[in-house]
Amino acid sequence: MLSQKTIDIVKSTAPVLEVKGKDITTHFYRAMFADHPELLNIFNHANQEKGRQQTALANTVYAAAKYIDQLEVLVPAVKQIAHKHRSLAVKPEHYPIVGEYLLKAIKEVLGDAATDDIINAWAEAYGVIAQVFIDTEAQMYKEASEQAGGWMDFKEFEVADKVKESSLITSFYLKPKDGAQLPAFHPGQYITIKLNIPGEENIVNRQYSLSAAPNKEYYRISVKREADYQPEGTVSNYLHDHIGKGDTVEVSAPAGDFYLANDRKEPVVLISGGVGITPMMSMLETLAAENSKREIVFIHAARNEEAHAFKEHTEQLVRELDNARSYMAYGEKKDKQTICDVEGHIDAEFLKEVVPNNSICYVCGPVPFMGAVIGHLSKNGLSEAQIKFEFFGPAVQLQQA
Ligand code: HEM
Repeated sequence: MLSQKTIDIVKSTAPVLEVKGKDITTHFYRAMFADHPELLNIFNHANQEKGRQQTALANTVYAAAKYIDQLEVLVPAVKQIAHKHRSLAVKPEHYPIVGEYLLKAIKEVLGDAATDDIINAWAEAYGVIAQVFIDTEAQMYKEASEQAGGWMDFKEFEVADKVKESSLITSFYLKPKDGAQLPAFHPGQYITIKLNIPGEENIVNRQYSLSAAPNKEYYRISVKREADYQPEGTVSNYLHDHIGKGDTVEVSAPAGDFYLANDRKEPVVLISGGVGITPMMSMLETLAAENSKREIVFIHAARNEEAHAFKEHTEQLVRELDNARSYMAYGEKKDKQTICDVEGHIDAEFLKEVVPNNSICYVCGPVPFMGAVIGHLSKNGLSEAQIKFEFFGPAVQLQQA
């Protein structure tokens, strides 16, 4: 337990640190990576380059500080981050390293204002926050490795098939090389792919949502080709250009708290933009496999018909289900023959028409798309609890959008 004095110091200095948060975490990462270059094999360089990770860590540390005397408020946020940490094999021994460099950075940025009392209070508080993460992650490692077919950290998978889904998106079917059965997962979860790319100084890790329904045989990820100049394209484009049938990739067990809850009866609405369709395909396939009687609405926005992945497959699944319908929005229509329900952006009026008031909505896509859709749904009267969302990259992006 933290003393009242420590709590008071941490809470009173949190706002000052929040203002300097980005400076502190930028210093922190620079110094930590200089002394511990091995950690560059865990962190995503694209996020680093864009400063996204700096902001994400800063936000969380200061949020945690504000609630240091009621840590239960942080549980949902901690769980989401812990899923990501577990999927990247972040371990307890990493926490003291992060703590050491975070405190050094606080000292450096605050200068004379960083009294011993302040530094000691933050050291103690970091210890408490880190322990919450370590305990949550320990439970997740246990669950991942103890279930039938489960494993710890990374395991080798072979690319069993590679299938083009649209002009931009290609699916990879991955099977464990040891021939073991795959453990159960929730539709909507992601895996981390670890790759050693020639020419890259460090090992790279990327998360991809699983796009097929849970099964014992294979995982399917569906990867979008990015513009070559985008740092986040490094891994996706390498997969497109250099990874094919018979190749090996390392995979961590499915993770993430964005998934279809299977014990619900309300209408379910799956709304995706672009490659955000991937977790929705896993959810739709699952609903079809279960022969679900729920009212199901599938809404997808793509740039145009060529970029529309899983078109026939979605239509087939919707036909198989008793109570499902789908809508398509194209940002641009190539010609008059192209059929779609919405031309341009999905707006609040359209969503009002097709989304039942009592539904649970799952939203996934690029940040501006998600910001707009979530805004429309809220405006239409859906509560926070009815809107679940996932986006790719640190959580902070959405708050900035
Ligand atoms: C991701 C916070 C400790 C490695 C994140 C994210 C947050 C965060 C907010 C973004 C989550 C998202 O993507 O949605 C924290 C806090 C920590 C902590 C508050 C300490 C109490 C650590 C440690 C390591 C680590 C000890 C390992 C050295 C990572 C990595 C990511 C991540 C690799 C993925 C994002 C990327 O690669 O850019 N963490 N973290 N974190 N964290 Fe931590």
